[in-house]
Amino acid sequence: MDSLDSTIAFVRVVSEGATPGERETLRACLSRSLPEIPPRYFYDDVGSALFERITGLEVYYQTRTEILILERYAKEILASSDPTQVVELGSGAGRKIRLLLEAWGSAAAGGTCGMLDINELFLRQSLERLGADHPTIQFRGIVGDFVEDVDRIGAPGRRLVVFFGGTIGNLYPHERRAFLRKLAAGMDHTDTMLVGVDLVKHPARLEAAYDDPDGVTAAFNRNMLTVLNRRFDADFDPSGFEHRALYDAENAWIEMRLVAGRACRVNVRSIGMYLDFAQGEELRTEISCKFTRASLASSAAEVGLVIDGWFTDPEALFALALLRKQAS
Ligand SMILES: C[S@@+](CC[C@H](N)C(=O)[O-])C[C@H]1O[C@@H](n2cnc3c(N)ncnc32)[C@H](O)[C@@H]1O
Repeated sequence: MDSLDSTIAFVRVVSEGATPGERETLRACLSRSLPEIPPRYFYDDVGSALFERITGLEVYYQTRTEILILERYAKEILASSDPTQVVELGSGAGRKIRLLLEAWGSAAAGGTCGMLDINELFLRQSLERLGADHPTIQFRGIVGDFVEDVDRIGAPGRRLVVFFGGTIGNLYPHERRAFLRKLAAGMDHTDTMLVGVDLVKHPARLEAAYDDPDGVTAAFNRNMLTVLNRRFDADFDPSGFEHRALYDAENAWIEMRLVAGRACRVNVRSIGMYLDFAQGEELRTEISCKFTRASLASSAAEVGLVIDGWFTDPEALFALALLRKQAS
């Protein structure tokens, strides 16, 4: 445990280099009939900065809409949740939690705020900024993986766990179930969870949000190959791959892919694996599930949670769902 100042504790629970478990997971993902890369590898410092640029794009309605919903409903959400501790998973630049902390107002004094993210630089920077503006709140930063390390967020009891940005949609349905089950198991009846979800809408609007005309999302997608080169001693040529975004209506998810522009062989040395791509062959780098109130309610019900509040924008583009344990 390290300390940024008297009100900010900081801990890293993921390794800086690739672990044997990570290598095994990557090997399994790359061995699928449509090879995949786990989306956590988007977020090195360059990727996190590119994601921040994406959040400001005209086509990317998600961030501004979720902020609008928070501005409108943060007080109502807090009144219903009545937390003494707030924990954000995948906190990124920390802009949204700021709105929640501001709405928490004087009730926040003596409260705690935990933030967990895979990117250390963004986590440190956001903790420093928030800590300076909210000296009566105790902050705790965890550099960790929100799937593997979610049990490190501390004890339950009037705890509000927030998961903004539609990031829950990056988990496959079976991963989402396991993740929510783990979270629900760590909750008591005074705890709540606030989840930001992107809503099902016209495929053209969704595909445009993941394929901006300035190519920022394409750069974000390709950067993942640079991350793999560094972390797994691979030799991808990112310029040899094209960005592609497509909506899969049956699964209600967007997929981001990278398409080989020419035949190539890639050596991923640290896992002892060669990948042969024919021109046009693809890699899947992300899914982003889209929800309706009913589909989220059914996901929540599988793990004994119910939707206790549903906050959306006038166009119903995005929603914040407040979940709590089903009364027994
Ligand atoms: C889609 S961004 C959302 C950022 C921010 N919450 C927002 O709403 O703008 C996903 C965030 O989750 C983090 N992240 C991605 N995968 C992660 C993982 N497996 N464990 C922890 N953090 C992760 C990224 O670093 C990034 O900050």
